Amino acid sequence: MQAQGMLEMSLSTDVLVIGGGAIGLATALELAGQGAKVTVLSRNFAEAALHAAAGMLAPQAEGLPPGPMLDLCLGSRSLYPAWIERLEILTGIDCGYWNCGILAPVFSAGSDSPSEKFSATSATPSLWLDSNSIRQQQPGLNQQITGGWWFPADGQVDNRRLAKALRVAVEQVGVTIHENLIVQALQCSGQQITGVSTTAGEWQAATYVLATGAWSGQILPIPVVPRKGQMLSVQMPLGDETTQSLHQVIFGDRTYLVPRRDGQVIVGATSEPVGFSPGNTPEGMRSLLEGAINLYPPLRDWPIQECWWGFRPATPDEWPILGPSPYQNLVLATGHYRNGILLTPITARLIADLIVHKKHDPLLEDFHWSRLEAQPGASNFETSAALRK
Ligand code: GLY
Repeated sequence: MQAQGMLEMSLSTDVLVIGGGAIGLATALELAGQGAKVTVLSRNFAEAALHAAAGMLAPQAEGLPPGPMLDLCLGSRSLYPAWIERLEILTGIDCGYWNCGILAPVFSAGSDSPSEKFSATSATPSLWLDSNSIRQQQPGLNQQITGGWWFPADGQVDNRRLAKALRVAVEQVGVTIHENLIVQALQCSGQQITGVSTTAGEWQAATYVLATGAWSGQILPIPVVPRKGQMLSVQMPLGDETTQSLHQVIFGDRTYLVPRRDGQVIVGATSEPVGFSPGNTPEGMRSLLEGAINLYPPLRDWPIQECWWGFRPATPDEWPILGPSPYQNLVLATGHYRNGILLTPITARLIADLIVHKKHDPLLEDFHWSRLEAQPGASNFETSAALRK
């Protein structure tokens, strides 16, 4: 399509969502559901962290301390069942949502003894399992595991199925997606964004949403950087009565195992500050395999299926950047780091409500970009080369 054609189309767009990953697509879907005409600009769908993730819904297993980030994550976890149901009804795609619970074994009880580390509430149920109970809960664990925490309300979604469903859903509700273009600059005049220059032409809209994940720092002077995660998967034997099997997520210190219902087990993940350096490395694979076998020895004989990598969008405080920006018509929805899949439903809702209903949910306050203004990687919006006047 010619740039001129796209320009005409963009002029009639209410909201231009920059970024076609989980956050961009879910926000576009929510906006369209609230009556907005939405266009999504996507750099490369296949490279979105959405595909690389394991799909854990793990605010408790991730050990987030009490505070705004835990509240945001718990809020999103509670939206998941109804959000997924709507998506599945709309698309007919089973997203593999599974409220399977997450088990977090420890290798020495020490300070992790019952009742001290995690206090159970109705919103955050948790249970300490001693050495015997944890083996009843999950046979086959390493004999050196002395106990562990059980988080029954954590779970998982199959992020690759979710990716398909989100793509189908946004198209079904009339969102236009333009793929394989790179945003070169945002144009601004005073406190307004007036357009987006891309490798495929210029775009304009009344409101812009930046949801470009690990690539956000290339577009705006905000401190979002890639944090590489390497992953692999193995195939659990199915249908063999004598085989021990995984039926919940196992969340170790540096390695986690996410069993899908079809027997695929995702093993994640490294966390490497290596920029956008691509590829699986021998060291990455070694650490994942060692960690996985150490948690759950039977896995050592299961066939390896696949290995891959992706880039988490990391911020200095590991919290996302959500809500208003220094520009009146630019909204930020990025920097979700380790919790992008989990935070997708709540981000989409908060951002769409902000744009369509001008509703500033109090939840947004702690995630405002200005908290990071003094951080390395953040620079003055006024002098940023990515913002053209
Ligand atoms: N959410 C787990 C990870 O980012 O590895």
